[in-house]
Amino acid sequence: MKLKINHRLTELATFIEDGSHIIDVGCDHALLDIYLVQNKKNIRAIASDAKEGPLKQAQENVKKYQLQKQITLKLGNGVEPIEEDIDTVVISGMGGALMVGILKYQTHLLKSVKTIVLSPNSDVEFVRREIVKLGYMIDNEKLVLDHGFIYPIIRFVKGKKHYSKQEYLFGPILLREKDDLFIRYLTKQKEATIQLLSILPKKYLKKRYQLKQKLKMITEIL
Ligand SMILES: C[S@@+](CC[C@H](N)C(=O)[O-])C[C@H]1O[C@@H](n2cnc3c(N)ncnc32)[C@H](O)[C@@H]1O
Repeated sequence: MKLKINHRLTELATFIEDGSHIIDVGCDHALLDIYLVQNKKNIRAIASDAKEGPLKQAQENVKKYQLQKQITLKLGNGVEPIEEDIDTVVISGMGGALMVGILKYQTHLLKSVKTIVLSPNSDVEFVRREIVKLGYMIDNEKLVLDHGFIYPIIRFVKGKKHYSKQEYLFGPILLREKDDLFIRYLTKQKEATIQLLSILPKKYLKKRYQLKQKLKMITEIL
């Protein structure tokens, strides 16, 4: 029996290569892991979560699809449950600052990690900057529309690359490809920035300056 998952997770799965050994941090019901094992070749997954409730649900799902050999369930904070053979970290469906915290303060656990796939709900510029500082570069990016929300997915691989402010803010690959969803995303960002500027008191000089700079960059791209 094949598992069906939502569009966001299906797109996320396209960022994982055949043969990957992944840790899915914050796996919740382990739907991504089950889908990956069923649809890609030679996937081994550690599905981990900091909470017992989601992990129990994950355990039931893994058993239902009889994938106990390919998927190991582990309770733990961030990448703590990682094992030596893991080459890929996947984190999706949480705020970007939390993702950065998980990776930045546990870097000693990332020695074998060649690929990091992130789909943050917020703070995307911060995520790009901080993961690049850890010695990774952006290898692929995409925006996904699911139930009216636009989600970014970013794949980082080991390596060094310099990025401009604009690339950190909007994504080097997204900027290059400029597809329709990206234009829609930027238009939304523009509206939100204008709205924020209209309510932010004049005394917040630095924040107002940053927002105006962002608005200028968006207008240039559009
Ligand atoms: C909204 S769910 C996202 C589930 C799934 N990854 C997705 O994209 O649909 C977030 C999950 O992350 C877990 N979580 C939050 N902080 C965590 C941490 N520091 N370490 C591991 N799991 C965490 C939560 O318990 C929750 O199950």
